Amino acid sequence: MNSCSRKTSLLLAVAVLYGGGGSRAATAQSRDVGWAMYNMSYEGIRSSPLNEINPKNVQNLRSVCRVKLGEEGTLMASPVVIGDTLFMTTAHSTVALDATNCKLIWRFVDAATPADVYAVNRGVAYLDGRLFRGTPDGRLVALSSDSGRVLWNVKAGDPAKGEFTASAPIAWQGTVFMGLAGSDWGIRGRVMAFDAKTGREKWRFWTVPTGNEPGAETWHIPESVTHGGGGTWSSYTLDTLTQELFVPVGNPSPDFTPASRPGDNLFTNSVVVLDALSGALKWWYQVSPADGFDYDLAAAPVLYSAKSGAARVLIASKDGHLYAVERGTHKLTFKTPITTVSRAGPVPTADGVHACPGPLGGVEWNGPAFDATSGTLYVGAVDFCATYLAGQQELVAGGMYFGTRTSQASDSARGWLTAVDAESGTPRWQFHAPTPIVAGVTHTAGGLVLTGDLKGNFYAFDAATGKVAYQTNLGGAVAGGVMTYAVRGRQYIAASAGNVGRATFGVLGSPSLVVMALGPPARAGRGAGAQVAEIALPPISTGTALSHGELGGADQERATGLRVYQVCAACHGARGEGGVGANLQTSTLGLGGIIAYVKAPTGSMPKLYPSPLSDADVASVASYVMTLRKP
Ligand code: HEC
Repeated sequence: MNSCSRKTSLLLAVAVLYGGGGSRAATAQSRDVGWAMYNMSYEGIRSSPLNEINPKNVQNLRSVCRVKLGEEGTLMASPVVIGDTLFMTTAHSTVALDATNCKLIWRFVDAATPADVYAVNRGVAYLDGRLFRGTPDGRLVALSSDSGRVLWNVKAGDPAKGEFTASAPIAWQGTVFMGLAGSDWGIRGRVMAFDAKTGREKWRFWTVPTGNEPGAETWHIPESVTHGGGGTWSSYTLDTLTQELFVPVGNPSPDFTPASRPGDNLFTNSVVVLDALSGALKWWYQVSPADGFDYDLAAAPVLYSAKSGAARVLIASKDGHLYAVERGTHKLTFKTPITTVSRAGPVPTADGVHACPGPLGGVEWNGPAFDATSGTLYVGAVDFCATYLAGQQELVAGGMYFGTRTSQASDSARGWLTAVDAESGTPRWQFHAPTPIVAGVTHTAGGLVLTGDLKGNFYAFDAATGKVAYQTNLGGAVAGGVMTYAVRGRQYIAASAGNVGRATFGVLGSPSLVVMALGPPARAGRGAGAQVAEIALPPISTGTALSHGELGGADQERATGLRVYQVCAACHGARGEGGVGANLQTSTLGLGGIIAYVKAPTGSMPKLYPSPLSDADVASVASYVMTLRKP
């Protein structure tokens, strides 16, 4: 396809989604404007045509409603809005809410199981009345969007190997695309296409090749492929016209010991471009070959066009850079640093190598937004360095597999939001946040850029100048979606608030969703709280798992402990094997010692008592932790 027709095609694709280009955008407000998928559109541009809320009136923004989602732990998902219904996920639950007042329409809980690898989820895909989502134990589940009824439930990965399904899948023309997460657990990654009606697998592509597959020669020790990593854990991008799927592939494994897997390690830290119909490899672009620093690609790439009409793919990496690559020539056009970048050595060593970003830095799961009108990209980032220590590590099936460890001072983590000229890659403005920005970044036609930070700040920037036009604290780390939609002509902004994740990914607040809209100017900011509908969903129960029947006695107690343990799992690992937090399998504390420690922790362990955990919660989680002990 030549560049000229490609430009037309991209415009057409936008028109299909919004029912109009520039001239018809004005009428968009008279009806519903949804948010169709994790990154809004198949191209992942995250730029809404809505303009009711703008830099002049955004000070009148107020909370309309707030829902406590009833599951402590991670909240990294983005809402999806179809018509007047908002769909949101936590690690183990899916809810449908009235998008105008947060009223619960239905809730589906798919309870925690001891097989869970990592309790996190990034959201649903929607297609033809069906929702699709992954699970912490590696399944793909289809639900009826009307009722939350399970339509099908298939095993996509094997949790015993550390495989799970954390990405927000994307769905298109009868097909759902989903890959396995678990690079840090030593999986061998793959992406799959499933029949949206039945869950039948249509094709699979191994992100870490072997045998005669292209790229296998970049693994000089063929056996290293078996645990070579290459997971995917955010979402995907699709060009619906060329029918190409763009997959951001994660890090090689073990993370910090490239000497154990010599070679460039394709297709880790690459965007692979696949034929969406067959899964055949078309081309790829590798950002960080032979990586020892955990410089994943997590965020889905953005498809956009240069002024010349040339099609580009924009890649935002955990290595702290934005890369623009020409789709025609596969050549790099620009590479722009968007956070502190420095490295004391080429690979981690036993003595330690200091590098910025560290393994929890750069661009994480939420990628850039692109405004075609001004030709600007907006991207959030984590400014967080670490000292990498490489060494021997034994692989324990289903456990994390880093190749030893890193040390980092979590109080030094900061954030950036950067506006970049999409043509040249030159920064236009930059905002330095007091804590990391891992939240979704959304541009609006009203001239705003919306995002949040891990301190709970929600920001609305003037897109042109980078000035904070409005800021408010939502009372919990903003680690998931920040997006916008309109129902019956009124524009809303929804943000996640409350997340306890890995250390720098927020340890603040109970996972909640906040919906905001403009209030009457006279009343805004004064007594607005009284009008907010506060909804608290009951804590997720444990009896409704697909695979579980009624539980009784000791099983019930263990199930309760397992439910509470989800808040610990983000740091201590699903089986207590350790991670950011200590190894609980080998801890020498007894039952009473654990209870005392959780109630009054030391060091960097967060205080979770008396809220969100009660006395009973602490007691049951402590007995659960005792069952994880290795003899
Ligand atoms: C945000 C991360 C995080 C979360 C969430 C978390 N921990 Fe921790 N935990 C840590 C860290 C870090 C340490 C080590 C603290 C230190 O020594 O500086 C720790 C230490 C511990 C210890 C002491 C281990 C020993 O042998 O000294 C216990 C017990 C423990 N955590 C239990 C729990 C339980 C139970 C939960 C859930 C209710 C939980 N933790 C939630 C990070 C976390």
